[in-house]
Amino acid sequence: MDRLKGKVGLISGGARGQGAAEARLFVREGARVVVGDVLDEQARQLASEISAQAGGRAAVAVHLDVTRAADWRAAVDTCVREFGGLDILVNNAGIFNMSGLEETSEELWDSIVNINQKGVWLGMKVAVAEMRRRGGGSIINISSVAGLTGSTGSTAYHGTKGAVRLLSKAAAVQYGAENIRVNSVHPGLISTQMIDIIPREQREAFNTMVPMRREGSPEEVANVVLFLASDDASYVTGAEFVVDGGLNAV
Ligand SMILES: NC(=O)c1ccc[n+]([C@@H]2O[C@H](COP(=O)([O-])OP(=O)(O)OC[C@H]3O[C@@H](n4cnc5c(N)ncnc54)[C@H](O)[C@@H]3O)[C@@H](O)[C@H]2O)c1
Repeated sequence: MDRLKGKVGLISGGARGQGAAEARLFVREGARVVVGDVLDEQARQLASEISAQAGGRAAVAVHLDVTRAADWRAAVDTCVREFGGLDILVNNAGIFNMSGLEETSEELWDSIVNINQKGVWLGMKVAVAEMRRRGGGSIINISSVAGLTGSTGSTAYHGTKGAVRLLSKAAAVQYGAENIRVNSVHPGLISTQMIDIIPREQREAFNTMVPMRREGSPEEVANVVLFLASDDASYVTGAEFVVDGGLNAV
């Protein structure tokens, strides 16, 4: 129950989906969390629901557009002001698009790269100083199985998620001596609103290729993120964790 006791976490894109599952689980395990998202109302509602369940101010919401350095600074300042510091950063915010290479406009490319890739770098850049003050920390960057292998579409998504994988390793190497651990998580198809844009038949066909024959839940990813956030993973850094029902083993 207390795997994150005394720790403070910041979760980007935390208002719904996997980020919301992580926020709920972190607080159940004794952490206090700041939920950052562009969906202000949903983030506020989630934070007050989590706090009500915890019987105290265990979660707060902040407006965080991950492409904006000023928003990141405000989010980290909120962690310090409300809860005394920052120990865990989950770079979870992301957008998905299925356009192939030639079908991707420059505008679409820029927005996916800005959110999925630049956003992860900016979050780490702002968070490490505060983690250093605490004597260490854990950063979990949410990539995808799309960051490990390609497919016939989603070109910009693949590119950004592949970049997140190596950004994580580069940061793990740079900050290992300061006890700041950085790992990437690679979910397969997870039942959230993000994948509503995939046609039903395509989802079902995809699931037949998955050894476990089904999609994952946000909670199943959150359990792996919890492990990486906790001291159970104290010697784990620069590593990649697939949560994909065996897809990557095929
Ligand atoms: N659902 C899947 O099948 C799947 C698979 C692999 C990886 N992922 C990754 O998991 C992460 C979480 O996605 P999800 O499945 O929970 O989907 P989701 O769409 O429910 O959640 C994504 C969240 O990111 C937020 N967001 C988008 N742009 C933002 C911005 N500029 N600043 C801050 N927040 C922003 C959204 O508002 C939303 O709350 C994403 O990085 C996604 O790429 C998802």
